[in-house]
Amino acid sequence: MNIEQIGPVGAEITDIDLSITDRIPAEAIKEAFLKYSVLVFKNQELSPKDLKNVSLVWGEPLIHPVFKGMEDYPEIIKIKNLGEKYHTNAHWHSDVTFEEEPPNATLLYSIEIPDTGGDTLFSNQYLAYEDLSESYKEYLDNKVAIHSNLGVLILAGGEAKDAKEVEHPIFRTHPETGRKALYVTEAFVKQIKDVESEISQETLSKLYKHSSDKNYVYRHKWTKGDLVVWDNRCVLHYAEHGYGDQNRTMHRITTAGSKPF
Ligand code: SIN
Repeated sequence: MNIEQIGPVGAEITDIDLSITDRIPAEAIKEAFLKYSVLVFKNQELSPKDLKNVSLVWGEPLIHPVFKGMEDYPEIIKIKNLGEKYHTNAHWHSDVTFEEEPPNATLLYSIEIPDTGGDTLFSNQYLAYEDLSESYKEYLDNKVAIHSNLGVLILAGGEAKDAKEVEHPIFRTHPETGRKALYVTEAFVKQIKDVESEISQETLSKLYKHSSDKNYVYRHKWTKGDLVVWDNRCVLHYAEHGYGDQNRTMHRITTAGSKPF
């Protein structure tokens, strides 16, 4: 297995066949994951069963709380092109932060790729945190953000009355590396708790802009058979559209996480 860094976040791993389950070097992969936060494995042939097996390197596969998974593999969501208007992942986010214990890792495997567009961007939130001014770090240090699942719920045909909110720190400490990362997502954060609404929105807008600064970003251009795995505890991602009505099909699975602190 060879590992090569590919940008401000991420590394490509070559010389590995993830479909041979009993030959997966899980410890070395986990070490690389903690170091680079996004791992790219190209030219993989993974059935849904293989993908589920590979996900065990990162932990217990989860069933998405809102979107329905595949019939035989409820942990795997099939992401398909529903058109630009319904492209729900075209915003910077970390997955499922509206849960008390958001998933640690997401695995995204490409089945069908359009000729153009459909890139996924990843942003390093350790760097985003580290680059904040000391006064900003101090001001936001013990503050928490309120995350809501309202948008996702409505999208999935649910009702606003069933929406729920959770609180997570704005600066999250990675439980395994001990490093701090900026942890706000435009899609799910409603406001900063105990901060006047206008100031909260102003502060969040600044943080959103900062968190996706190009100096922190790796852009992944997909080819069929790529598996990309990212660490939701310290990485934001953004799924670009730009492929009209061409097909783009992905299999996605997330693994169990813990309460952010
Ligand atoms: C996601 O946001 O979880 C999916 C990203 C993508 O489809 O590129």
